[in-house]
Amino acid sequence: MGMDIRVDPRVLIPRPETELLIRTVADLCREKSWKDPFILDVGTGSGIIPLGLTRLMENCRVFGVDVSYEALAAAGENIREFKSNDNIKLMRSDMFEVFGAEHKGIFDVIVSNPPYISDRDYEKLDPWVKAEPRIAVYGGKDGMDHLQIIGRQSGRFLSPGGFIAVEVAYDQAKKVKDLFIECGFTGVAGFRDFNNYERVIVAWNKG
Ligand SMILES: C[S@@+](CC[C@H](N)C(=O)[O-])C[C@H]1O[C@@H](n2cnc3c(N)ncnc32)[C@H](O)[C@@H]1O
Repeated sequence: MGMDIRVDPRVLIPRPETELLIRTVADLCREKSWKDPFILDVGTGSGIIPLGLTRLMENCRVFGVDVSYEALAAAGENIREFKSNDNIKLMRSDMFEVFGAEHKGIFDVIVSNPPYISDRDYEKLDPWVKAEPRIAVYGGKDGMDHLQIIGRQSGRFLSPGGFIAVEVAYDQAKKVKDLFIECGFTGVAGFRDFNNYERVIVAWNKG
């Protein structure tokens, strides 16, 4: 996306699939004619998602959370370097733990590129991917730990008619779509990357 963001061992190096995630969110907000959507990014890492979204949608506001203080420090550095206004906020949170009843329905979009690598795939990772922080890539036995939490908990913080958009592993699309349908979302759809894998799943909160 033309942004030379700074990465180091504290954060995951952003991948091309995440550009698909960012562009999909911006396209859907544009289709809905949302001028200033309020967006939550769960697991913000380097801050690439808030930075990409505010680049494509000048008036959106993005709240980035991460469980890792180190990642939040890196995100803060990137945001200070790239943004002069204050439409990106960062906070430490283990998934949705900082949000309570007062945050019900406040986000138009919840976006996430969560850790989604399973036990089996973690063992097979190339050394350069294994060099990424484990907390950024390992998603539990079947890689679904964080996606399960997003499916089950994000609905209450989404506005009516809002949507969730997540990045998933090359072989996770069906599982994640089924999960989101089971959690009561509608219009569940996958978006394909250049290798023709569904890597971005979108699901809508009932309006
Ligand atoms: C795959 S990385 C994504 C980083 C960045 N958003 C990107 O797309 O390049 C996942 C991020 O989720 C964070 N994370 C892991 N477990 C978490 C949790 N329980 N709650 C919040 N964030 C978490 C990691 O620290 C990491 O920054």
